[in-house]
Amino acid sequence: MIRQFFGWQNTPFTREIPTAQLYPSASFRECVARLNYMAKTRSFGLLTGEIGAGKSAAIRTLRDGLDPTKYRFIYLCDSALKPRDFYRELLYQFGIRPQYLRSEVKRQFGHAVWDFYESQDKVAVIVIDEAHLLQGDMLQEIRFLTNFQIDSVSPLALIMVGQPELRATLQMRLFKPITQRMNIRYHLGGLELEETHKYVEHQLQVAGAQHPVFTAEALDAIYAHTRGIAREVNNVCTACLLDAVVRREKLIDAIHVARILTEYKEH
Ligand SMILES: Nc1ncnc2c1ncn2[C@@H]1O[C@H](COP(=O)(O)OP(=O)(O)O)[C@@H](O)[C@H]1O
Ligand SMILES: [Mg+2]
Repeated sequence: MIRQFFGWQNTPFTREIPTAQLYPSASFRECVARLNYMAKTRSFGLLTGEIGAGKSAAIRTLRDGLDPTKYRFIYLCDSALKPRDFYRELLYQFGIRPQYLRSEVKRQFGHAVWDFYESQDKVAVIVIDEAHLLQGDMLQEIRFLTNFQIDSVSPLALIMVGQPELRATLQMRLFKPITQRMNIRYHLGGLELEETHKYVEHQLQVAGAQHPVFTAEALDAIYAHTRGIAREVNNVCTACLLDAVVRREKLIDAIHVARILTEYKEH
């Protein structure tokens, strides 16, 4: 509906945006650079950020940029994952059929990771997304992965991704072995005001827009409401665009944004 009305090639502000078209804000680029560094140095790392800030988008960018002949990207995003299944899942992603006993599975995994590194000269990059939702017993299990880091050479990179409370959870004494080895951390915040303007313009441009749609005042209002959190900016912009379609007007001003935001609050 939006695409047709405005005559664009794509719909902007969608989740399916290809990584090459993501808006490269300063913090986003810094975030991706740190993630790459974690992979390259086979470190343990922590990426935090508010919901919708772009953590998973940064992880997708990392994945797309890794040379598949050197890295095996393993992504886990299942808050309901049980310790019993954790190593099984990892093994599956390695293409190895897990054995029956849990102790065996762990051993298999250790073997696979080292073999991968030493014989094949490849590094496993394990990303655990939405890690703030994991139960204590799963975090305990992740502790086992830290054993790989006791030797001076680590064969893998482990990146835990989650909302800010993950940082506090990991501060608990129980998880010290994990945090002690997490030498690279990054917190992805919201975009600044000026960047929020550029973010929206970028989204419209990659959709194929030739003209601006939001006035500067409209963008200021969007920033004030969303604090530059990408997902929220996307939601408000989409609501404004749909409203514009209904109004049959191709310009969105602060008044329209204000009305949309009040409707938001009422629901
Ligand atoms: N730099 C960016 N450029 C364009 N879209 C982005 C960017 N960062 C995030 N987004 C979009 O914002 C939404 C939320 O991002 P996501 O990575 O899912 O956040 P998080 O994982 O932190 O909750 C997604 O639709 C995503 O495509
Ligand atoms: Mg996410």
